[in-house]
Amino acid sequence: MQNIIEAEKLTKIYTRGSEKVYALNEVSFTIQKGEIVSVTGQSGSGKTTLVNILGCLDNPTSGSLKVDGTQIFKENLKLSESGLTIIRRKFFGYIFQKFFLIPTLTVKENILVPAVFQKELKANENKLDEILKMLGISHRKNHLPSQLSGGEMQRVAIARALINSPSILIADEPTGNLDSKRSEEIKELLTDLNKNHGITVILVTHNPEFAKIGNRRIELYDGRLHTTTALTD
Ligand SMILES: Nc1ncnc2c1ncn2[C@@H]1O[C@H](COP(=O)(O)OP(=O)(O)O)[C@@H](O)[C@H]1O
Ligand SMILES: [Mg+2]
Repeated sequence: MQNIIEAEKLTKIYTRGSEKVYALNEVSFTIQKGEIVSVTGQSGSGKTTLVNILGCLDNPTSGSLKVDGTQIFKENLKLSESGLTIIRRKFFGYIFQKFFLIPTLTVKENILVPAVFQKELKANENKLDEILKMLGISHRKNHLPSQLSGGEMQRVAIARALINSPSILIADEPTGNLDSKRSEEIKELLTDLNKNHGITVILVTHNPEFAKIGNRRIELYDGRLHTTTALTD
């Protein structure tokens, strides 16, 4: 199996006045292509900091990160902002707890936001219809976010994450704002995207039931890697 993520001694330090906060402290692990990995740990343990760095949305203070063999961060190497943008668009889809939909754009327009920079917009429109169908929200295509339920809004956010055909989906507490039935549906959807579409999924959750969907769990404690547990079906 091929490593799609190689993290080595990732460290992120924030300074608060004279105090140094180690949001991440020398965290090392690998994730293989096609895995579904859950990231758990108490609030403040560094989960968001970690997945933002893995997703190239934030840079570490030190340490090394490779994505699909490409060196993104290491000592003395810093990709330019435009370099990072290309990496993000090429490899990643992001789902957050807050849906971050643009209120004045329709469902269709929101989903196409990450694709407007791509040349083949027509192909993306066909893809859009496919994704809407898969997520069961085709009938919402021309609606505004304010006309949708919370579960539908999260599906639109997931559709937006899928429009550029990511190899890796990063979901940071995607069901934090949803009731248990909607959460269960999102959990099944992420499992399906992993099993049937080969997408590597990195899921941050503090719901222990939810964490079981991973074939591996990475647990953080105070910015350090506490355990990685292989989960069997
Ligand atoms: N921008 C920031 N400035 C200062 N401290 C931060 C910042 N972002 C996160 N932290 C601190 O880093 C630690 C880890 O935060 P975070 O990654 O958000 O944890 P989690 O997602 O597990 O709740 C916390 O102590 C938090 O207060
Ligand atoms: Mg967080």
